[in-house]
Amino acid sequence: MPHGLFITLEGLDGSGKTTQIKRLATWLERRGLPSLMTRQPGGTATGERIREILLDARSSPLAPLAEMALMFADRAQAIAEVIEPALAAGKIVLCDRFTDSTEAYQGGGRQLGSDVVLEMHRLVCGGMQPDLTLLLLPSLEASLARARRRNTHTEAKTGRNEGRFEAEQDAFYRRVWEKYREIAAREPQRVVCIEGNLGIDEVHEQIVEAVAERLVTETRSA
Ligand code: TMP
Repeated sequence: MPHGLFITLEGLDGSGKTTQIKRLATWLERRGLPSLMTRQPGGTATGERIREILLDARSSPLAPLAEMALMFADRAQAIAEVIEPALAAGKIVLCDRFTDSTEAYQGGGRQLGSDVVLEMHRLVCGGMQPDLTLLLLPSLEASLARARRRNTHTEAKTGRNEGRFEAEQDAFYRRVWEKYREIAAREPQRVVCIEGNLGIDEVHEQIVEAVAERLVTETRSA
């Protein structure tokens, strides 16, 4: 049975993931490798409804464990409905956030710790791991400024405040940042870190380098 390639993008809010995932999809497409783009939370009809609860500023305060469980409910649905079928059909799946986000935000930011998140991951996702994770790590200050600016802009345009996370204090984001670094140090084969306040093109170049390397490895082992 063919098995595709599961690539995730990770980073703080405002780290530029969404721009980069689109550019990566275009780069793959040009090489005759169409991919499927999805995001978490969201990516399925049910997931988009869960996303609304999670991001709506009126939902606060959500208990940290409720928040974590909703992230995994979204993920379980996405795996069953989108990710597994695509991988089984041999496709490349590009996913904007996966369990590393839960470990960083709920484990680190909300201080639930890694163990509870990884245990839930084992139970709900059967321990499914991305083949490659691209972790974008511009400085904390640059990411936050960008995320908060974007949220103000969206609220002015749509009247919806989807900034429940962006409203968190800097200390919360520092813990998220540190947890991301811990994950990268723990799993260097899977997680490729792209650090510093680089331009969009420079980040894209580093991403395609990492992806091209992984594609070669996959072709060799096929
Ligand atoms: P996004 O705007 O990058 O799509 O992410 C939505 C927000 O949800 C972002 O602030 C990070 C947060 N999040 C978590 O806290 N835990 C998770 O497991 C995921 C997937 C996202």
